[in-house]
Amino acid sequence: MSQKVILSGVKPSGRPHIGNYFGAMKQFVDLQNGDNKLYIFIADYHALNTVQSKEELQENIRNVALDYLAIGLDPEKVVLFKQSDIQEHTELGWIFNTITTMPYLMRAHAFKDAEAKNKDITVGTFDYPMLMAADILLYSPDLVPVGKDQKQHIEIARDTAEKFNRVYGETFKLPEPYILADTATFPGLDGQKMSKSYNNTIPLFGTDEEITKACMSVVTSSNAAGTPNKSDDTLFTLLSAFLNKDELQVKREKYESGDMGYKETKELLAEKIITYISPMRARREELAENPERIVEILKKGAAKAKVIASEKMKEVREKIGVTLE
Ligand code: ADP
Ligand code: TRP
Repeated sequence: MSQKVILSGVKPSGRPHIGNYFGAMKQFVDLQNGDNKLYIFIADYHALNTVQSKEELQENIRNVALDYLAIGLDPEKVVLFKQSDIQEHTELGWIFNTITTMPYLMRAHAFKDAEAKNKDITVGTFDYPMLMAADILLYSPDLVPVGKDQKQHIEIARDTAEKFNRVYGETFKLPEPYILADTATFPGLDGQKMSKSYNNTIPLFGTDEEITKACMSVVTSSNAAGTPNKSDDTLFTLLSAFLNKDELQVKREKYESGDMGYKETKELLAEKIITYISPMRARREELAENPERIVEILKKGAAKAKVIASEKMKEVREKIGVTLE
């Protein structure tokens, strides 16, 4: 792949799970190698829609920074920053509000889901895609690595860029989503999409006990004693992240023939996850001992991001007519 500009972010709204990792965060690490220019940020203003406690938000922000470093993001290669440090995000989000209609935003899946659940929807939740469009378009990325659930948000960012370019002249580059087919929608313990809001997660940095407990509760189809197991797609999709195709096929055949029971298969999953994450978990513990370093890294990242964002905003202000010559 030739040199690309890549941007993505994660909300500091709770503990990450392995769906976040395989769906999005792992791609950040894989993409940092090579000549790519990466901007990876903590979407703290997005989290305000759900986290309204100072201590909790501070803790969550520190945690996402630790997660980023623990999974292997290198602050020397990647611009790591906090959204709230770059005021241009909210400023551009406002400008996008003025060229976007309510009916258009009402079509967003996230809004429709919240409405279907009769949630008290904040204006911030409704307007979420405009802030996200600003997050993206300020840095002119080629690719935005995310899970499939964010695809529509990237389409909205593209539409918004096109609209702005039509009204005010060519300004924004249209970004492409970067979604890996195999992990686009990682299943949770109940077979639905793994999500913090569905309580069906396997925590990325859980203890061995937490991970084992979660794995043991993966839903499998029940079969009469002594009869072969049905193929259980959730269990095997989860396993597929840790086994190669041949290994997976062997285990699947053993499972389906009844040679390997569901308990043993779930134990295998727990063992694979624990082996995979323990080096990252150990690194995270080490990093957590030095909180000042986190503040320092985010400050340095913000200084670099600011250069790009402020240059783009200068162009935007001139184009919309608020800059007097
Ligand atoms: P959640 O749905 O748990 O609240 P977030 O919205 O914080 O997760 O998502 C952070 C990143 O992880 C996004 O890029 C999102 O697309 C990705 N992601 C979340 N859940 C999954 C999943 N089950 N499978 C694949 N990617 C996911
Ligand atoms: N909406 C994303 C999520 O829920 C987080 C996010 C905010 C984001 N701004 C972004 C992701 C810009 C990619 C690019 O996970």
